[in-house]
Amino acid sequence: MSTESLFRPFSLKSLNIKNRIVMAPMTRSFSPGGVPTDQVAAYYQKRAEGEVGLILSEGTVIDRPSSSNDPNIPHFHGEQSLAGWKKVIDGVHYAGGAMAPQIWHMGIMDNHHSGWVPPVPFEGPSGLNRPGFVNGRVMTEEDIADTIAAFGRAAADAKRLGFDTVEIHGAHGYLIDQFFWNETNKRTDIWGGKTLGERTRFAVEVIKEVRQQVGEELPLIIRLSQFKPSAYTNKLAASPQELEEWVSPLVDAGVDIFHCSQRRFWEPEFEGSDLNFAGWVKKVSGKATITVGSVGLTGEFLAAFAGEASQPSSLDELLRRMDRGDFDLVAVGRPLLADPNWVKKVREGRKEELKGFTKDALAELVMG
Ligand SMILES: Cc1cc2nc3c(=O)[nH]c(=O)nc-3n(C[C@H](O)[C@H](O)[C@H](O)COP(=O)(O)O)c2cc1C
Repeated sequence: MSTESLFRPFSLKSLNIKNRIVMAPMTRSFSPGGVPTDQVAAYYQKRAEGEVGLILSEGTVIDRPSSSNDPNIPHFHGEQSLAGWKKVIDGVHYAGGAMAPQIWHMGIMDNHHSGWVPPVPFEGPSGLNRPGFVNGRVMTEEDIADTIAAFGRAAADAKRLGFDTVEIHGAHGYLIDQFFWNETNKRTDIWGGKTLGERTRFAVEVIKEVRQQVGEELPLIIRLSQFKPSAYTNKLAASPQELEEWVSPLVDAGVDIFHCSQRRFWEPEFEGSDLNFAGWVKKVSGKATITVGSVGLTGEFLAAFAGEASQPSSLDELLRRMDRGDFDLVAVGRPLLADPNWVKKVREGRKEELKGFTKDALAELVMG
């Protein structure tokens, strides 16, 4: 099947990218003290040279004292870290690419395996990371207000440094998702609520603040997932109606693109239709969507952490859905972590040169 539809340009507001392929955000823990190094800049520049349309950075944390559980995850605040990010975006632009930071607050976390802990306890809507697991404190009104402001400052810095768009990490069981999920949001004030619609309030306020800081023209992306690493089969929205209740307030607040995280893009979201998560979100929101999850690989990413190897796989099913108009963009994670030239190889039809994925690739910043 022709891969041509992946190589159409895409434009939205001030964002112009040369193809439909997005590098998925992937934590690398190669930024000692939260500062992205020259190696990190070179790693991203290589992906831009390899023709990735839009690069999403690894999750990079906002200015709250316990927004991270790992000292080697990059910060998106502070002079030194922002100077590191400036080198990253300049390198990506030099190579003809476009990029967004994925701005992140982890919320309530497990302690890092190294024993490192942040200077103050983790914080979240109710102190819970998952049912029965408390590891931090309940956020006060003041904490919430400062966290919203810190997301806004990170977005303003992204724009000032020259990034092309901003992605807010609202997926995978981290802070924003801890507000969405009834199992981790037990609040009885305005930040909680019985319905998913009510529990979007925190995300809505973050998006409004970010929009306020970056103006109307910079597109805003939010990443969402139904699953959590602690609950693979979880459905925050159990029906298309609930999905609408979830995403409509986010649209009204200013989201332009929904990044719909799945482990396997071909899995239908609801019974009675083969539309996937990105397909449904596009249908109910009318906004552009990004699909993701095992594109070009046989196995999914959480199994990869546990050591399962994946082989290259056909793109035909992805292209069938794309040509039907289910989504606008396609994010690719592990293939780009392991091979900066994956996009170029796909465009040139060099199928036999595509690599599989093994856990070894996680241990280094693969440069070529
Ligand atoms: C090493 C690694 C780190 C990841 N870190 C993040 C992250 O920081 N933020 C995020 O939203 N997703 C993260 N993910 C999930 C990926 O963005 C992506 O959704 C997932 O790998 C599925 O895509 P793939 O099957 O193409 O690899 C990570 C995945 C991997 C493999």
